[in-house]
Amino acid sequence: MAEVTIDSTLQESRLFEPPAEFSQQAEIKSLAEYEQLYAKAKADPQKFWADLAETELHWFQKWDTVLDWQPPFAQWFVNGKINISYNCLDRHLTTWRRNKAALIWEGEPGDSRTFTYAQLHREVCQFANVLKQLGVQKGDVVGIYMPMIPEAAIAMLACARIGAPHTVVFGGFSAEALRDRLKDGKAKLVITADGGWRKDAIVPLKEQVDKALADAPTVKNVLVVQRTAQPIAMEPGRDHWWHDIRQGVSADCPAEPMDSEDMLFILYTSGSTGKPKGVVHTTAGYNLYSHVTTKWIFDLKDTDVYWCTADVGWITGHSYIVYGPLSNGATTLMYEGAPRASNPGCFWDVIEKYGVNIFYTAPTAIRAFMRMGDHEPNARNLSSLRLLGTVGEPINPEAWMWYHRVIGGERCPIVDTWWQTETGGVMITPLPGAIATKPGSATRPFPGILAEIVDLEGNPVPDHEGGYLAIQHPWPGMMRTVYGDPDRFRRTYWEHIPPQDGHYTYFAGDGARKDADGYFWVMGRVDDVISVAGHRLGTMEIESALVSHPAVAEAAVVGKPDEVKGEEVVAFVTLDPSFAPSPELSAELKKHVVQEIGALARPGEIRFSEALPKTRSGKIMRRLLRSLAAGEEITGDTSTLEDRSVLDKLREGA
Ligand code: PRX
Repeated sequence: MAEVTIDSTLQESRLFEPPAEFSQQAEIKSLAEYEQLYAKAKADPQKFWADLAETELHWFQKWDTVLDWQPPFAQWFVNGKINISYNCLDRHLTTWRRNKAALIWEGEPGDSRTFTYAQLHREVCQFANVLKQLGVQKGDVVGIYMPMIPEAAIAMLACARIGAPHTVVFGGFSAEALRDRLKDGKAKLVITADGGWRKDAIVPLKEQVDKALADAPTVKNVLVVQRTAQPIAMEPGRDHWWHDIRQGVSADCPAEPMDSEDMLFILYTSGSTGKPKGVVHTTAGYNLYSHVTTKWIFDLKDTDVYWCTADVGWITGHSYIVYGPLSNGATTLMYEGAPRASNPGCFWDVIEKYGVNIFYTAPTAIRAFMRMGDHEPNARNLSSLRLLGTVGEPINPEAWMWYHRVIGGERCPIVDTWWQTETGGVMITPLPGAIATKPGSATRPFPGILAEIVDLEGNPVPDHEGGYLAIQHPWPGMMRTVYGDPDRFRRTYWEHIPPQDGHYTYFAGDGARKDADGYFWVMGRVDDVISVAGHRLGTMEIESALVSHPAVAEAAVVGKPDEVKGEEVVAFVTLDPSFAPSPELSAELKKHVVQEIGALARPGEIRFSEALPKTRSGKIMRRLLRSLAAGEEITGDTSTLEDRSVLDKLREGA
């Protein structure tokens, strides 16, 4: 990778102080308190984490070394014995939380279920005993390919209880993607459902499992939860209905004392090249990190209903639907559905129905809602909300302001949380009672996280200058390795920035800058950066400028090779329904970008499109747009694409 500087052009000066009433009741109440905590953690990270591990978690046996750091391999809380399922369930049973709602679930067709901590514990124990009965032992990898139903969380907790690492594969992935992940993880058993509801249709999960298993010989058994009840094939001896096999099985299953560094799960994530990487997280460090970040960032109170809209198939679902909230004894809400033609306001219905207090979603969803207009949220009572969050990609200030105004009623702080599958939990974020927010900035690092913007030598770059987002000290939630490929782990994350005097720096692959207040502005993946006339421009900033025009609902910007400038900016634009594509509008949008950012960022080309190619988790696939813009064949992996027809339409329009 060539040495670069990344020019940053986004100018945003609005500042939103935490509301006084919020700060008074918050976990971290002021900037001074945050700064004190941050300084304390920086001075002695090991003591900081050890103190929290002691007070926040239950241990069967205490560790003897806090951190064993053999770069780039870390071990936290060495020789400690712990179980995350115990921390999420059992320890609450001896408190008043025993009969508190642990999990509230709303199905897409409108059915619902609620589990108290005691009930959830019983379900998990029984599920764990069934897994054992099917031959699953400590250390065996279990695949989970599920819709968003309570059994998805129950299955994860059951695996964790008996020490079987899970690998959750998002239910929207194809049979091929599922097969590759099951094979790579050498999964012994798969937990699935007959189907799941998504946008008023059934997703035939079991059918995909059958296809995947034609070539995944390590899988010996399939446990099938009935959700949709359409007819499916069941292979005798291999496939078992959960509701049959559970009959008469004991709900007594003590949590296995796990070593701190025993593998808790593998979660596959794709890079821009190569096959997906199996990101490995282990038990104690992940438990602590997801727990503490949940507690301080979402500021959970025992009376709160907390809702994260992610799917459990992504890291956000792991850390912030299941493990973080339950470890804190919170009430976590899980929703099967997605906004759809028959009910575009379904999210707001759920908030109203359950009186949701904390709502955590993604910029792509926020932009989609913005495009639908204010009438859906305005028609519901959203006054229970007290805190909003966003994750997954940079949020453009326009969408941030809409979220703040229309959903948050101008009273809810917004936590824009930067992190990755690899980091296990949130790394850069406002603490909502302490840190004033600026639309589009994830603000400041979480205590204990030594984040910096550096060049490729590892030297910090001056304020306002773009560089690489890097982490300079290990943290408990960090990934431990790439499953089966420690060398790839080293190459991908630890060798872009050469170690200095034995100090290794984690390379996140994102471009960012810091402003004079120490706020971080993430500009997106470095491979999404465009180089125009020797200046590197973050795609997000140009997109943000486009979206600030009233005609634009969503925009994706890529570089197209250009003989003179290196790269030319090509913008793919989805319009607000009340505007129609025209050459005049195209010219106006180019002018608008020039006005907002400068002539350097002027798009050479604007392409109007009804939709943009996205991954199933809602990220725009700029790699595909880059090929389209350059008039090249699309090569490489398209298995994560949500809707293939979008590409065909874009090609026809070209
Ligand atoms: O580029 C950053 C972007 O998402 C990447 C991580 O993706 P993934 O592993 O799928 O995890 C997503 C959920 C944690 C990052 O490298 N990203 C995530 N959150 C933000 C973000 N970019 C800007 N701002 C964020 N808040």
